[in-house]
Amino acid sequence: MAVAYISFGSNIGDRIKYIETALEIIRENPCVQSPIQVSSYYETEPVGYTYQPKFINGVARIDITLSCEDLLEFLQRVECMLGRKRSGESVRWGPRNIDLDILLYDNACILQPNLHVPHPEMQNRAFVMIPLNEIAPEAIHPISGKTIRELVEKMPETKGNCKMECCHAMITTTNLLQMKNVGQKITMLTAYDYSMASILDEVKIDVILVGDSLGMVMLGYKNTIPVTMDEMVHHTKAVVRACNHSLIVADMPFLSYKIDVRDAVHNAGRLIKEGGAIGVKVEGGAEIVDIVSAIIKADIPVMGHIGLTPQAVHQMGGYKVQGKDSKTAQKVFYDAQCLADIGVFGLVMECIPYKLAEEITHTLPNTPTIGIGAGPHCDGQVLVSHDMLGLYNRKPPKFVRKYADLTGVITTAVEKFSKDVREQKFPGLQESYE
Ligand code: KIV
Repeated sequence: MAVAYISFGSNIGDRIKYIETALEIIRENPCVQSPIQVSSYYETEPVGYTYQPKFINGVARIDITLSCEDLLEFLQRVECMLGRKRSGESVRWGPRNIDLDILLYDNACILQPNLHVPHPEMQNRAFVMIPLNEIAPEAIHPISGKTIRELVEKMPETKGNCKMECCHAMITTTNLLQMKNVGQKITMLTAYDYSMASILDEVKIDVILVGDSLGMVMLGYKNTIPVTMDEMVHHTKAVVRACNHSLIVADMPFLSYKIDVRDAVHNAGRLIKEGGAIGVKVEGGAEIVDIVSAIIKADIPVMGHIGLTPQAVHQMGGYKVQGKDSKTAQKVFYDAQCLADIGVFGLVMECIPYKLAEEITHTLPNTPTIGIGAGPHCDGQVLVSHDMLGLYNRKPPKFVRKYADLTGVITTAVEKFSKDVREQKFPGLQESYE
């Protein structure tokens, strides 16, 4: 049985359908052992001939009993079944409904007129190397003798300036790491109800946080401390009903996870099982690693939250920037490291100096960081939606950018309604029944 890695790509018609049909035909071949491992799909800018639509690309690992020559013939047959006519293609790297190429076949080096393995261009193509690195970082490129991970690290376009977007139907916790790896910033906003969550999901915000900030912006408490588990479950359910795309993370409220481990796992489980969230977020660092580990061991994905942790507002003596001097910066750094070591799938960093946030982000290769008042170098950004929409009557912190003044918009609308009713202008006949 040989292990082959093949790349797939499509940029005409229903691209995902072509790719999934091709993968289905491959799976059904009796010489292919199932399951086959498939990377995320990545939307990529065309290379070479750039005047054409974007591609969707990815890589699959197949364990196969066919020879490399027979595999090539089989893949060409699959392309043909899906309507691709290679002979009619006038442009090299031009548009195609499906493209299947052999990248690696065990450690074979084959140089025949129509079969070059490893694929001669692969190490120059981010759209091949990034998905390959996702599923086979330790595979060896037989000519260079280097691992795929090493080759990817050397590619100039794989960090920051790479024009590849992961394109996922429903965002998963592992997709956040893929986004970090390709330098695609993660977007996260809060929502606490169905209507707001529908808008965020439609706009394809990556992560929706059912934050315990709901205690303040929805329930009118002074801070997040009074929020209960029942309130969190209630609002999480409403958000979950709205979402088809975004990853939903629910906050564990004050004292729902710091008293004892059993309670913590039980309460985290409620947010997943009853609420329908995908992950939970907890505030704290080194002092809660045992608790967080237990939650993760119960198969519940956990996002950490360090720096300014609003549930500790009284302990911290107010909402203050954390980690400003070297001693407290070391503490924040240590907290980040401890949480990363036990496998949190993301880390919110609130109100810390931007250089500290940058250092943490770069030091933790497997932990996407999401900043709020932590500067531009984090892997993603989160804000409380009510703050950025101007829908909450507190003076927002310095780190908030106000993208709208919904309080103003709503006030004007409500004033108009009152006036119309009082002056008997609403309802008119057009809003009435015969
Ligand atoms: O509860 C919340 O909204 C939060 C954000 C401030 C990250 O935790």
